[in-house]
Amino acid sequence: MENAIVHLTSDSTSLIVRCTPFAEILYLGQRLNGFSADDLISLGRAVPNGRIDVDAPVNFSADSGRGSFGTPGVEGHRDGLDWSPVFDTVEVQQQGNQLTIITKDAIAGLQLCSELRLDHSGVMQARNTLTNLKAENYQVTRLAVTLPLPERADEVMAFHGRWIKEFQLHRTRLEHGGVIQENRRGKTSSEYFPAMVIGHHGFSEQQGEVWGVHLGWSGNHRLRADVKTDGRRLMQAEALYFPGEQVLEQGESLETPWLYASYSASGLNPMSQQFHRFVRQQILRFPTNKPRPVHLNTWEGIYFNHDPNYIMQMATQSAALGVERFIIDDGWFRGRDHDRAALGDWYLDEKKYPHGLKPVIDHVKNLGMEFGIWVEPEMINPDSDLYRAHPDWLLALPGYQQPTGRHQFVLDLNNPQVFDYLLERMSWLLGEHDVDYVKWDMNREIVQPGHQGRAALTAQTQQFYRLLDVLGERFPQIEFESCASGGGRIDYEVLKRSHRFWTSDNNDALERQKIQRGMSYFFPPEVMGSHIGNKRCHATSRQHSIEFRGLTALFGHMGIELDPVKEGDAERAGFARYTRLHQQLRELLHSGNVYRVDHHDDTTLINGVVSIRQDRAVFLVSQLAMPAWSLPGNLRVPGLDTQARYRVSILDAPALLANGQPGHTMRKQPDWIQQPQELSGEWLEKAGLALPVLDPESALLLSFERV
Ligand code: GLA
Repeated sequence: MENAIVHLTSDSTSLIVRCTPFAEILYLGQRLNGFSADDLISLGRAVPNGRIDVDAPVNFSADSGRGSFGTPGVEGHRDGLDWSPVFDTVEVQQQGNQLTIITKDAIAGLQLCSELRLDHSGVMQARNTLTNLKAENYQVTRLAVTLPLPERADEVMAFHGRWIKEFQLHRTRLEHGGVIQENRRGKTSSEYFPAMVIGHHGFSEQQGEVWGVHLGWSGNHRLRADVKTDGRRLMQAEALYFPGEQVLEQGESLETPWLYASYSASGLNPMSQQFHRFVRQQILRFPTNKPRPVHLNTWEGIYFNHDPNYIMQMATQSAALGVERFIIDDGWFRGRDHDRAALGDWYLDEKKYPHGLKPVIDHVKNLGMEFGIWVEPEMINPDSDLYRAHPDWLLALPGYQQPTGRHQFVLDLNNPQVFDYLLERMSWLLGEHDVDYVKWDMNREIVQPGHQGRAALTAQTQQFYRLLDVLGERFPQIEFESCASGGGRIDYEVLKRSHRFWTSDNNDALERQKIQRGMSYFFPPEVMGSHIGNKRCHATSRQHSIEFRGLTALFGHMGIELDPVKEGDAERAGFARYTRLHQQLRELLHSGNVYRVDHHDDTTLINGVVSIRQDRAVFLVSQLAMPAWSLPGNLRVPGLDTQARYRVSILDAPALLANGQPGHTMRKQPDWIQQPQELSGEWLEKAGLALPVLDPESALLLSFERV
């Protein structure tokens, strides 16, 4: 068979795959320029004593029938038979950087098709598709993608979190027994973002080898980083199935979600930059190629208190601040006066809006803004007309009492009547009104996801995708935000049909610094919704200055979430200032390379964006808590052109500093601040800039412009 060895390359990365007699990834790492298939002789392994007498590969399906004792990539059976498949290659197809390997087990009657792609961004995509070739049904328990990793990949960085504290990082040594991460909440979840970074221990933003992986899937999932007893390492990723959920009839197939992987030889920054480039070029589909409009979202301003005249005043004030898109959040539909009722009744509340939505929308549009609206279609309150008419429309198991979550149940999207009802109601909303933007929410976890008694979470997830796809086709000019209580449904598969994420319901700038940093590993700033919230944060009751809130919101897709009518002049001047600053910087922020800077004091967080042409950069130095040392050290600026010179300036500083006063923790500012400088990119990178001592919960925005 031809194509026994395939070498795919991007600028940074090489992927080498042995296609016969079975599919096996031999190398995923730094690009090789002189590779020859003859060199592979060097990888032929020894066979150790005390175990089976042949080499046991970790092939792409991790077949246990070859004598590998790790978790196999395919688990299932045919009423107790055909449970240990061994897949041999029957066909290899290569088209440019896309490789398809079809393997079969004729005895078990199964085919496994493995697809591998290496994008020029450096991101590898992989998935497996299992097909039942026999007449009897095949029950699939597990279907995973397996990626071998070298022995030096011995530390895992992963994400944990919860509502209002998403994307938190933790690290574990990858030792005996490995690391497993499971999510069974029915959506991507705030708890376990489906990703892991595995690297050589001690890897940091700017140093060390890392392999980052993300499973693009909005349902339940399992990720595993494993060490075999012989020292070899691997990672596996899969959608997680309930018992009996996946039964394949003859000829039917089941696909894993896509696994996305990116390798970097020099820390987490290049890994993220590759993922960002990939998302920008391969995943995101904006209806038009315009700058991301600044939002005003009404939720934390008025909650369920909708009065169209007042909302129009809010819109007028928003436009005066420079807002470009005005979004009416929860509370506009019939009976929705609090969060205990009305989900499912997607009809306008005519008591609140006696003249319809049109006057409000016209007002918003006349002010030159886009109009957006909130929905949560997958949900139903027991106190709703829809539930009273169709109590059987729930995603649930008959005979059991479903617990409510935020007083609501989940609708069964696998029921065509439910799907059609939602499609009709959403089409009414989006077709009869001049809507530019939809904030699509999903505010509970899913318990016992049953359709006609059988487990149906995977199908529910697919129907959710289909609903968004059909709406996207019907209304191609409309953008969608994936919200899910903030942070609960953020992944690459939902991003194929949406345009922004609501990152977290927590607008506390201090918490946001960490949440947004966590999200930045896999997502570029332009899809990360980041809002200036009320001075006293609604999630934490903490208070922050407008400068700290403004600068924290600046580095995403910015918005404001409060009632601008009620705010005083100083706050309003701040909203206008940071809106303008964001508008000046967004082209850079939303297209450049993101850097997170290693710093010796973890009370200081530094991140920045450098333009692709390296002619402009902004870096934000955020002081989260009392500095650990009395001097903060130097900022060594990564990513600049070392041949060029840059004008260094301060774009925004804490109020005291901006007024020429040093602050509480500093007596005299660094020399360069008093006499702005032009410095070389090389010097800035190698020696750096002495930082001023910042007070806790304040930040400094620096600009670098090539001269
Ligand atoms: C969720 C969202 C919020 C808001 C409310 C409305 O919590 O994350 O932003 O839309 O629902 O009920």
